[in-house]
Amino acid sequence: MKRMKTTFACFALGVLTVLAFLFSCADQSSMLASPGARLVSGADYAGRETCALCHAEISKEFGQTLHARMHMSDPERQERDLVCEACHGPGSLHVEAGGGRDVSIVDPSDNPLACFQCHSSVQARFMQKFKHPLPQGRVGCMDCHDPHGRNIFSPVDRIMSSRDEVCRQCHQEQSGPYVFEHEALREGCTSCHNPHGSINEKLLVQRDTNLCLRCHAQIASPGSVLIGGFSHTSRVAQGACWSSGCHTAVHGSNINSHLRY
Ligand code: HEC
Ligand code: HEC
Ligand code: HEC
Ligand code: HEC
Ligand code: HEC
Ligand code: HEC
Ligand code: HEC
Repeated sequence: MKRMKTTFACFALGVLTVLAFLFSCADQSSMLASPGARLVSGADYAGRETCALCHAEISKEFGQTLHARMHMSDPERQERDLVCEACHGPGSLHVEAGGGRDVSIVDPSDNPLACFQCHSSVQARFMQKFKHPLPQGRVGCMDCHDPHGRNIFSPVDRIMSSRDEVCRQCHQEQSGPYVFEHEALREGCTSCHNPHGSINEKLLVQRDTNLCLRCHAQIASPGSVLIGGFSHTSRVAQGACWSSGCHTAVHGSNINSHLRY
């Protein structure tokens, strides 16, 4: 028992260190090998059926999700369904204690490491220069994702008709409605922004005019550039389409159909 307590203390310290490193932008050499295993030390897996005994509603709803269908990488673990514990950490101590809040179980909304075990590319995004302020705790995975719900692209406890509605909640100014809406918005905010992070300012998926040229075919005869039926030959040399005083109303405009202001 004493040994277990010591192990727990060491582990807790470990987690804090990892978190400290994570948020201070150090590299991520210490990824967790077996999903969930190190999230709660001294505990063993209990299995999804055990969780369902007390968390019937969540367990039922969860059955429909993508995560419910995924397989654990560790073959030894595949005999029992350990998917709940992949995010919440092994639950035997939680179960023995009869459950409860903050009782030997991980709440991933406070601890994105639970998600990063498997989503290291998302973690890498959040370490880039421009990102949603997750490390500062101002935005969390659960503002945009519901891990138990049928639609993982809705925030917890909310129903959304489209994926972009999630962005609109916090960024009304860019969401319109506009008299002249940029039709690009219909393809979604993520056609121009990475939702997690980017090496480019404003989370843009591309930093220069190429962002726009993906959709606005550029017809060029030698020495001239035509976009949208207008000659842009001298303009494209001046900088990005939105930053050189041209299409500054990139999301939409109430006064100018060419998204000038
Ligand atoms: C013996 C009943 C019981 C079992 C079995 C059980 N839990 Fe719980 N659990 C509870 C209770 C009670 C709470 C507190 C709920 C509340 O206050 O609304 C809780 C809370 C939680 C929380 C919230 C923790 C927090 O800090 O907010 C999570 C996550 C959780 N359980 C996950 C699990 C998982 C995963 C399993 C299976 C490994 C499991 N539980 C098995 C009874 C149980
Ligand atoms: C993909 C990761 C993931 C998986 C898999 C997962 N959960 Fe969760 N769970 C979360 C997150 C994130 C939260 C916190 C949600 C929030 O902030 O409302 C949570 C919250 C909970 C809570 C607390 C709810 C409350 O009222 O605060 C319980 C209980 C729970 N999960 C049980 C389960 C059970 C049982 C399973 C398996 C059937 C499971 N979870 C599978 C990520 C997961
Ligand atoms: C044990 C590994 C594991 C953990 C832990 C995990 N995921 Fe996943 N997640 C997966 C797998 C596997 C997929 C399917 C990936 C694919 O299709 O590329 C997935 C898919 C997703 C998707 C995309 C769904 C889609 O339809 O494309 C989202 C969003 C997601 N996870 C969010 C989360 C969040 C948030 C957490 C933490 C609360 C989390 N995941 C924890 C393994 C995991
Ligand atoms: C600001 C909202 C937002 C936040 C915060 C957010 N996501 Fe996402 N996430 C999205 C959107 C939107 C997509 C769909 C991207 C697309 O359609 O191209 C997505 C896609 C994903 C995917 C699947 C595609 C991929 O990029 O691998 C995973 C996995 C994922 N998110 C995990 C997470 C995790 C883990 C966190 C927290 C650490 C998180 N997300 C935080 C909005 C968000
Ligand atoms: C929970 C609220 C919330 C949601 C949901 C959200 N954001 Fe954000 N977003 C923020 C915050 C906070 C910032 C940081 C703003 C700051 O630092 O002033 C931010 C910053 C940004 C920025 C960069 C702004 C800059 O000045 O660098 C872009 C672009 C952005 N979000 C796009 C999106 C998109 C696209 C979505 C949907 C996938 C989304 N956001 C969903 C809260 C949110
Ligand atoms: C056609 C590409 C495109 C689409 C689609 C798009 N954006 Fe943007 N967004 C941009 C560009 C370019 C900027 C940078 C503008 C600047 O720096 O003046 C930007 C800037 C932002 C900013 C930062 C604003 C500021 O003043 O710092 C936010 C927030 C944002 N967009 C949210 C969204 C949301 C929410 C959606 C979906 C409703 C969306 N964007 C769709 C291209 C786009
Ligand atoms: C996802 C595709 C997509 C992207 C990316 C995109 N657009 Fe558009 N844009 C459209 C569509 C569709 C229309 C409406 C049809 C048209 O006029 O070509 C449009 C219309 C416009 C118009 C109005 C055309 C007019 O009549 O004057 C301007 C200006 C414009 N876009 C500028 C930009 C700029 C600047 C960027 C880069 C920041 C950009 N677009 C990126 C799809 C896109």
